Amino acid sequence: MSANGNTDTVPIRTIPSTDRIENLTRRFHDEFGSKPSFYVRVPGRVNLIGEHIDYCGYPVLPMALEQDILVAACLTSDSKLYLRNINSKYNNFDVEITKFADMDIQPDSNGKPFWYNYVLCGLKGALEYLNNDFKNGLKLLVDGNIPPASGLSSSSALVSAACLAFLYAQNATLNKIEIATLCAKSERYIGTQGGGMDQAIAFLAEKYSAQYITWQPLNATAVALPEEASFVVAHSLAEANKAATNDYNRRVIECRLAAKVLIKASGGLVNQKIVTLSHAQKILNKTLVEMIDLVNEYLPKEMYTKPEVCNKLDITENEMDTLYLTPNTRHLKEFKLKQRALHVFSEALRVEDFRKACTQSTSNGSNGHINGSNGVTVKSDSEFVDKILLTLGELMSSSHESLQTLYECSHENLDRLVDISKKMNVHCRLTGAGWGGCVVALCPKDKVDEYIQMLTDEFYVKHCEIEKSKASVYVFATTPNCGALIYI
Ligand code: GLA
Repeated sequence: MSANGNTDTVPIRTIPSTDRIENLTRRFHDEFGSKPSFYVRVPGRVNLIGEHIDYCGYPVLPMALEQDILVAACLTSDSKLYLRNINSKYNNFDVEITKFADMDIQPDSNGKPFWYNYVLCGLKGALEYLNNDFKNGLKLLVDGNIPPASGLSSSSALVSAACLAFLYAQNATLNKIEIATLCAKSERYIGTQGGGMDQAIAFLAEKYSAQYITWQPLNATAVALPEEASFVVAHSLAEANKAATNDYNRRVIECRLAAKVLIKASGGLVNQKIVTLSHAQKILNKTLVEMIDLVNEYLPKEMYTKPEVCNKLDITENEMDTLYLTPNTRHLKEFKLKQRALHVFSEALRVEDFRKACTQSTSNGSNGHINGSNGVTVKSDSEFVDKILLTLGELMSSSHESLQTLYECSHENLDRLVDISKKMNVHCRLTGAGWGGCVVALCPKDKVDEYIQMLTDEFYVKHCEIEKSKASVYVFATTPNCGALIYI
């Protein structure tokens, strides 16, 4: 066991006897005529704070959900993948594994990935790791209960589960950090330049605590959340698939361009390598607050045209296309550099403040006495707890506002959920990539039932016109769960 468990391998447990496993086993037998030889389980996640900053190199603070992708698997003696899904809306897919190892993974004619593309990404990454040297094919039956396109990382859980299953089947033993890194790389075959948060928490999560995830090198440190806080996830009923549009990659590119411009404008040298905003901060040796000042100084305009950015970076448009842009962002003519960079630096500050407040709450316990910002000692336990919860809540609200206005990745349904929550003084924010999906709300434990009831009435019944009894699948309180597991 390593000091913090991050360099341990994925734990192997005995198969739990649950109805879900029983059902999956039965269905596997019906489908393939044999029993599964092992199962893998990879959880979804909810990010508490630190949105759209992982790919800029800044720490994030997610936790794993109970909802997961559970896959039953069995080796075959040929070299094929036989893929099935318990949900009949997802079609069967059989393929010769060697065939797609060197092929691009293509979406459908509307640019939307097929469901099995995520499995292929995981396998492609695993094959690369194995140098295409594998002994067995695989029969897989997938059962997922993370709502898809909800910002709760169902896609990354599927990529990671496929990668883990294939590697386990070939007896490859990677530690959690190695496999999380491999899965982050693998998922980029779908076409998005994801940052790695989803795969990191999928493997490094621990029960009862969120994780503070840092990059280069990847590491995760447990963050205990205040006992009195409950985190509620609520679906906006707007689905968002980040691989089906260029919204996500556009933001990644805008951040990379902003980083280069800031370095160049401050007299630094930029080369062709990908530079993130956190690299820029390191190179310029500034604090996050100083970086915000630099943005205001060197990127004052609301919009920059492609020729303007090229001019600032001293490159041709052709060089920009080939060196800096992705296939789905090459046609872009304008970039918002100021707004994106301001979001990233301010969100990175919020993550640090959030973590600090969590640490204060747990190190002092609920008996703690802290000094208020005005120097007044906060005496009673409940005053102390309220103050911490308020601090955390306000950080979450500021995060949402920044994502809505500067990063432009919210959705009217998400904003409505945020507004409805304000009526009960509950702070919440969009979680995941955005443009739909879920919000995460910080709600005092003793108000959770009332809050869920209020969202059910005001949002799901009144606004979305769905039956009250059906709303419970869309809104739920959650506690931190453990990371990926193998069952044998
Ligand atoms: C998606 C990506 C992550 C991260 C979030 C936004 O979930 O996969 O890497 O960028 O969006 O925070």
